Amino acid sequence: MAENGVKLEGVVFEAAGGAAGAAAGAEGACGAHAVDARQRTMSAELQEDDLAFDRSLRPKYLSDYLGQTKIKESLGILIEAAQARGDVVDHILFSGPPGLGKTTLAQVVANELGANIRTTSGPAIERTGDLAAILTNLEEGDVLFIDEIHRLNRMVEEVLYPALEDFALDIVVGKGPAARSIRLDLPRFTLIGATTRTGLLTGPLRDRFGIAFRLQYYTPDELADIVRRSARILGVEVAQDGALEIARRSRGTPRLANRLLKRVRDWAQVRGDGGITEDVAAEALSFFEVDALGLDAVDNRLLELLAVQFSGRPVGLGTLASALSEDTDTVEDVYEPYLMQQGLMVRTPKGRQATARTYEHLGMVPPDGFGA
Ligand SMILES: Nc1ncnc2c1ncn2[C@@H]1O[C@H](COP(=O)(O)OP(=O)(O)O)[C@@H](O)[C@H]1O
Ligand SMILES: [Mg+2]
Repeated sequence: MAENGVKLEGVVFEAAGGAAGAAAGAEGACGAHAVDARQRTMSAELQEDDLAFDRSLRPKYLSDYLGQTKIKESLGILIEAAQARGDVVDHILFSGPPGLGKTTLAQVVANELGANIRTTSGPAIERTGDLAAILTNLEEGDVLFIDEIHRLNRMVEEVLYPALEDFALDIVVGKGPAARSIRLDLPRFTLIGATTRTGLLTGPLRDRFGIAFRLQYYTPDELADIVRRSARILGVEVAQDGALEIARRSRGTPRLANRLLKRVRDWAQVRGDGGITEDVAAEALSFFEVDALGLDAVDNRLLELLAVQFSGRPVGLGTLASALSEDTDTVEDVYEPYLMQQGLMVRTPKGRQATARTYEHLGMVPPDGFGA
């Protein structure tokens, strides 16, 4: 395959297999390469047994997508304005931590537009031909959703630029001196990209989105609404305070709120009378080792290491990781973000360190001279 473009035969040949394969890999891709730490209860990463469950609970329209008020309002305006002009909606980028509703929002936008959505992901589009196949199969007004868009490779990205800007695909026909580039028109479509790491997006790609939204962690009240909505769909009885108790332990993340609801439902069915009150939720979640802040056993072990074993002194990432028997990436990407967001640890130039809040959470008094 020519590095600077796509061979025409290649496009036609791959139109069937390439695009379908890329689309099929989209949802599964998140779980396939996951390390074990991502499979624990309190990991917001998409897990294998979330798939069907997530889908059944997924809001379909802006009206049942709860929270993220500002984003919903902006999207509503964007959609209405484009439809009034008879135009496609600008390319949209959603960013934010896993489980906050990026994929859901992409589908909501497509539903609101009454458009078809094609779903794929950055790592699933391995070759330029894969992308060309996807693009040439789009229809006017379709939504193309690329999850983990920061993981697109550079060559694929370059094919995407003219597609986004001019709805055109540049193709190289022939070889050597006889090679020439031809331009194919594409139907007008809307790209929706999702990423957990805006920082990893290249400048040129970021610039080609008409609008970018950063999803925020949800408040306990918003999550309680989500828990109540999910409970209704699942036919589970949940009291207001029961929903709030689950919400408080869900790390601001709808995916976790739904997962915890599922765990609590099972516990309540076996150990209680099926109904979910505050006490039932608290007892069930303690049983599953999810504490009042939504921290699990590994989170708490990390905090204990910082506070007790290292007595609140700065610790290097490598040392911390080996004390936890985890690799440094996992500690950095999976465990630390939420702990830092909660003020339960800090990263300093000298290393990771406990805070006053760490000791408070562990029910301990900081050692003499701590924080001096
Ligand atoms: N705003 C919301 N309102 C209700 N449920 C939500 C909302 N956002 C996310 N969810 C639920 O959380 C699950 C995870 O959301 P998802 O869109 O897959 O997150 P992301 O793509 O950001 O990782 C969805 O299946 C859905 O059930
Ligand atoms: Mg997603």
